[in-house]
Amino acid sequence: MAEKEKVVLAYSGGLDTSCCLKWLQVEKNLDVIAICGNVGQDEADLEYIKNKALECGAIASEAMDMREEYASKYLTKALAANGLYENTYPLLSALSRPLLSKHMVEAAHKYGAKYIAHGCTGKGNDQVRFETAIKALDPKLEILAPVRDWELHTREEEIDWAAEHGVPVKASKASPYSIDDNVWGRAIECGALENPWNEPPADIWTLSVDPENAPNEAEYVEIGFEKGVPCSLNGEEKSFLQIVMDLNVLAGKHGCGRIDMVENRLVGVKSRECYETPAAEVLIVAHKALETLCLDRETQHFKLNLEHQWSTTVYYGQWFSPLKNALDAFFAETQKFVTGTVKVKLYKGSCTVAGRTSEYSLYDYGLASYTAADTFDHKAAKGFIDLSALPFAVWAEKQGHEAQDL
Ligand code: ARG
Repeated sequence: MAEKEKVVLAYSGGLDTSCCLKWLQVEKNLDVIAICGNVGQDEADLEYIKNKALECGAIASEAMDMREEYASKYLTKALAANGLYENTYPLLSALSRPLLSKHMVEAAHKYGAKYIAHGCTGKGNDQVRFETAIKALDPKLEILAPVRDWELHTREEEIDWAAEHGVPVKASKASPYSIDDNVWGRAIECGALENPWNEPPADIWTLSVDPENAPNEAEYVEIGFEKGVPCSLNGEEKSFLQIVMDLNVLAGKHGCGRIDMVENRLVGVKSRECYETPAAEVLIVAHKALETLCLDRETQHFKLNLEHQWSTTVYYGQWFSPLKNALDAFFAETQKFVTGTVKVKLYKGSCTVAGRTSEYSLYDYGLASYTAADTFDHKAAKGFIDLSALPFAVWAEKQGHEAQDL
């Protein structure tokens, strides 16, 4: 008998990807290799998930701890860019998909697979991210998206299909929400959230307490940065990954990091999404604060535009792209002196900067002070203003009387 073709499947152990695993065998006659990545999601019993894939008939199954790589190669770049899509969403799902894709492409090469498969629906951004990343890494690989193609329209139909085909499914009560999570936070959609008028139900939140029930005492945290990358927490040196994990607990305890937004998906739909990202919020707030000390005005202003571009590019799934590489190179240059410490105050859902310091600070006390220590040349201001306002003075003479909107 001819050898079967192989497919590498991004496998999470949930209902969708468990059905995918079987469907690829039954409907496509493929040998399946399951790849489960640990990016810090809640459901991270990788050994269990890996074995479950084998029970479902995978010919090979690998569990990979990708957290360190995620922090050092992905989150560092997200932080350098202060990455927030539509100025709000810290991109947690958009950041993990290219990493997972990279490992799937590597697995496809290792096992000699012709196909890669994912369990995304046809309506979301994640399918675009997986497929764009895979095409950018190896355009010869063919992509299969069973959930987009099969005729199972509801969760119940999927459960029935799983039972008919001997796919073990946890008999858990179906959550009304669709959740994606990793160390950079949690994304929650569907259920009552589909009506944007509904306040998010309390049961969607798991990383943060309700700010109303948060401690009455504020807590201060000090985050040390070295060239834009977090390197210490409250004076203790730690890896970036560890700082992220610690801050999720610390800031979550104070109800920080809750986001409720209506966002514009790449596929043209507006969707109501909630996010829970305690560490990401604290770190982006702190990093921006340190940049205000360490970046010169022109770079700081120019960078703001590029941050917006970077966030959109990454949201659109273009992690492995020339534009994203070029933007990263720009940000890397800006981070050379972003070294110092930021003090953040956590209090009942708010996360505010209480202080910042850096050995490379461009803040000059003599220039800024209104006290006797003042070193600023006040008289020089007149000539500066005369020239910078000159175009408007000329305009006033020639056209201003007619053109002024008074
Ligand atoms: N809307 C967010 C994004 O596109 C979150 C997606 C979450 N994915 C999920 N399968 N629930 O990045």
